[in-house]
Order: sequence, then C-alpha cells, then structure tokens
Amino acid sequence: MDLFEYQARDLFESYGVPVLPGIIADTPEEARAAAAKLGGTVVVKAQVKAGGRGKAGGVKVVHNPDDAYTAAEQILGLEIKGLTVKRVMIAGGARIAREFYFSVLLDRSNRSYLSMASVEGGMEIEELAVERPEALAKIEVDPLVGIDTAKAIEIARAGGFPEDLIDKVAPVIERLWWVYKDEDATLVEVNPLVLTEDGQIIALDGKVTLDENADFRHENHAALEDADAADPLEAKAKASGLNYVKLDGEVGVIGNGAGLVMSTLDVVSYAGERHGGVKPANFLDIGGGASAAVMAAGLDVILGDPQVKSVFVNVFGGITACDAVANGIVGALQTLGDTASKPLVVRLDGNKVEEGRAILRAAGHPLVTLADTMDEGADRAAELASR
Ligand SMILES: Nc1ncnc2c1ncn2[C@@H]1O[C@H](COP(=O)(O)OP(=O)(O)O)[C@@H](O)[C@H]1O
Ligand SMILES: [Mg+2]
Repeated sequence: MDLFEYQARDLFESYGVPVLPGIIADTPEEARAAAAKLGGTVVVKAQVKAGGRGKAGGVKVVHNPDDAYTAAEQILGLEIKGLTVKRVMIAGGARIAREFYFSVLLDRSNRSYLSMASVEGGMEIEELAVERPEALAKIEVDPLVGIDTAKAIEIARAGGFPEDLIDKVAPVIERLWWVYKDEDATLVEVNPLVLTEDGQIIALDGKVTLDENADFRHENHAALEDADAADPLEAKAKASGLNYVKLDGEVGVIGNGAGLVMSTLDVVSYAGERHGGVKPANFLDIGGGASAAVMAAGLDVILGDPQVKSVFVNVFGGITACDAVANGIVGALQTLGDTASKPLVVRLDGNKVEEGRAILRAAGHPLVTLADTMDEGADRAAELASR
C-alpha cells in the first residue's frame, strides 16, 4: 500500500525525522484557514499517489492565506498522471539551500535491501538515474543488520554528502531506516531531503510503501488505507475476507485453491476466444472451507459486478467434499434470492462428486447448469456470457 505524502509526513514525524508542519485541506476554505494557522510562506501540495506533482503544477508556494485559497482552488480537481486531486496539504515553506535524495527499498532480485543516496536530489531524480547513474549511489543494506550509525555514515558519504553535513544527515537516515523496518515498509523515499538556508536537514517530500503482508502486525495501518480509491467490489470482498481480484471480462470465476483458479482463468480465456472474445471477470479463491456462507459472499461479490454475464464455479473436492460445496451453492442461491440473476455453470470433481452433483440436480435451480469437465464448463460459461 502506497501512502499519501501527508501520511508519510506524519509517520516520519512520529519517528523523529525532521519534517515541516503540514495540515490537510479538502476545500479552498480549509486551505486558507490552514495557511493562516501556519502563518508566513506556505506550500500548497496536491495529495495524489504519484510523483512529479511539482512539474504538473501540483505544488505552489504562496505567501498569504488568500493566495493559499487561490492555489488550492487551482490544484483541487487537477489531474496528475490520471489521478484527480481531492485533497491538498498546506505545508510550512522551507528556504531551500540544497536538495538531496535518499531512499531505502526492498531489492527483490537480490533478496536484500537497497539504499540510494545522492546530493543531486529534487525533481529530476529519474533523469539523473538514467543519464548519470554514477551520481546516484546504491548501497546494499544487509537485512539482518540494517542501517546503524556506521552504515548511515557510509551511505551519506557514498551519496557525496559534504563532510560537514554527514553528522546531520546520518541520524536522519538512521531514523528513516527505523520507519522502514518498524513499519514493515518496502519503500521509504525522501526527495527532496533538503538543507535549509539556516543549516537544517528536513524531509520535504516522502513516499512510503507498506507491505500489506505485514498488516496483521500493525493495527494502525488499516486507517491509512484510501477507501475512496479501492475498487468497490474488491473492498466488499476484502470485508468478507475473500481473495478477490477484479479483472476486465464477463465470466465470473469462483474456485477453491489459487492454482485451480489461475488455471480456470486460462481455460475461460481460451474458451472465450471461441465465443466472441469474452474473458474472465475476476479471480476469486474461496479456499478450503467452501461453506454456504463463503459461497454466498463470493457469489454476492461476483454478481454485483455489472460486467459479469455468467459465472463459472469450478471446485475440486478435497478436504472440503463436493457435497458440502453443493450445499453451499444451494444455500447461497437461497440467501441471495433475486440478486442471483445470472446463469451459473458448476463443475464439481473429486471427493464426493456424485453426492454433490445429486444435490444440485435435486435442487433444480433454473440458473444452474452442471458441467462434467473444466473445459466443458468454461466453454458453456463463455458461451452464456457471449449471448
Ligand atoms: N514545504 C516546501 N517548502 C518549499 N519548497 C517545497 C516544499 N515542498 C516542496 N517544495 C519544492 O517543490 C518541489 C516538488 O515538491 P515535491 O514535494 O518533491 O513533489 P513531487 O516530487 O511530486 O514533484 C521540491 O523539489 C521542492 O523544490
Ligand atoms: Mg518529490
């Protein structure tokens, strides 16, 4: 999960990383009030999860509350890299002497962490990385050791920081490492990390990515989620504890086990080629215990997708036997009542398959068709979706 700049700022502050005050505002009025509260020169900054806000006109320096109002009026609603600005942060204005760059991130290919530092930070860092990579130091960070004082000094020196600044920069790098480690981040980037005219080091822009796999260790992370931006179906699925990913097709897919669901997506895609190019509408793994409740929650999410024209339920009975799954489907259709309005193709195989099929035949639901094989089921579901 990527954080907004203001959330990164708050996190930095709680770890003792030097930042400037920041107040969020959703309207020009709020921006004016925030600027009045901070006083003096402030910066109105678009809060979107994308870099390059400065170049896109999303960062404006103003000298009084009325100008903050005008700047917010201009920035709110602006599109930056396809994202609409709905919120700004009014930040204290820094008198910048120099702009530096620092980041630490998960380096998957090397199974390690990587820190990057440069004294040529600011808005052109991407170009710098391409055109003069030697100006951007890359230092491996041993995950078991992390960044202690000595390592922070090594990073600052490698980045080319002047000797008289090392003592000021190294503790900031160390604290940014604590953010990275203790919050289970996969990225902490500060660009620019500035030296002010009065000699302070301040993190002026922060980008933080948190590892959602570690959410269970961080009760406070749920509050950082941007409910606004989440796909409503994915949010609904998440609330029911389902493993769901929205895709762009017409055939809803439910299966048990990630591997089976992945191959179901392939089979549906192939079948779709024979039926006007229909595609799978989602990934949904209902896991081992395919109870009526889980099946109902899954079907509810899939049927709530207006793009879905048919649903393919593909279950291989193992520990959870097919009769339990069939009862789950029957129960789910009962629970959903009229909401279940799209044809369902069900393929069951494995443990207690005959019992499962018998249950579905006996229920005789008008929307349900049984398929003997996965290919047949995919073909039938694709055909139904193409009508
Ligand atoms: N609080 C601030 N005070 C003064 N200048 C700022 C402030 N925040 C940003 N800037 C200037 O604006 C530039 C772009 O802002 P930044 O927050 O880095 O956004 P982005 O990286 O999305 O372009 C910075 O490099 C800096 O020069
Ligand atoms: Mg920046």
